Amino acid sequence: MKTSPETWTNNDNYLNAHLVKENRALKQATNAIRNTNLPQMEVSPAQGKFLYLLAKIAGAKRILEIGTFYGYSTMWLAKAVPDDGLVMSLEFCELFVNMAQKNIDDAQLSNKVTLLFGDAAASLKKLITDKAEPFDMIFIDAHKPSYPEYLELSLQLSRPGTVICGDNVIRDGELSNMNNVTPNVLGTREFTEALGALDSIESTALQTVGIKGYDGFTISLVN
Ligand code: DHB
Ligand code: MG
Repeated sequence: MKTSPETWTNNDNYLNAHLVKENRALKQATNAIRNTNLPQMEVSPAQGKFLYLLAKIAGAKRILEIGTFYGYSTMWLAKAVPDDGLVMSLEFCELFVNMAQKNIDDAQLSNKVTLLFGDAAASLKKLITDKAEPFDMIFIDAHKPSYPEYLELSLQLSRPGTVICGDNVIRDGELSNMNNVTPNVLGTREFTEALGALDSIESTALQTVGIKGYDGFTISLVN
């Protein structure tokens, strides 16, 4: 094989410099997390901008994000919605909610973002019971074993035309390794197979390499 993770990283850094152009708030938020020993599990800058462009292409005004972490993808998505738009982001870890809120405030995006602290499945069920307006785009990026449940609940918060994106499904290529039955791989595998089995949604997935290693995401359109 011609390329290595080092090549992927060099090219991701090149793309970041020439195409992505993160603003000060995004860079600052990432710098702050690098001074902690928290995992580097946010999307890459190129993926963040991809989500931003996808939201704009879809004309999304209401976006649901499952898994906030420190708000990196949340901020990209919030930049994509109009002034009267909304990004609702669900997060189980109180520390992450506090970090994300600070980053979102610093980025002057608080008017477009609502962070919901708590178990994501419980928050989704409450949104369904409360008859929340359907979302235009849903980004699933939280607890991997819960992806199948997040999908089932997300569909109840969708309308025809809703875009659903699921992060981290390829998992260093373990998705298709049927000998790997660890909870994270099983979760994203069941999620992927559920997407494929549903008539109500059209899906594909893209494998990615870069600063986050070898992974990939699903992308779906609700019919
Ligand atoms: C992990 C989670 C993510 O959402 C991600 O993008 C990368 C890694 C993790 O749980 O390790
Ligand atoms: Mg992720």
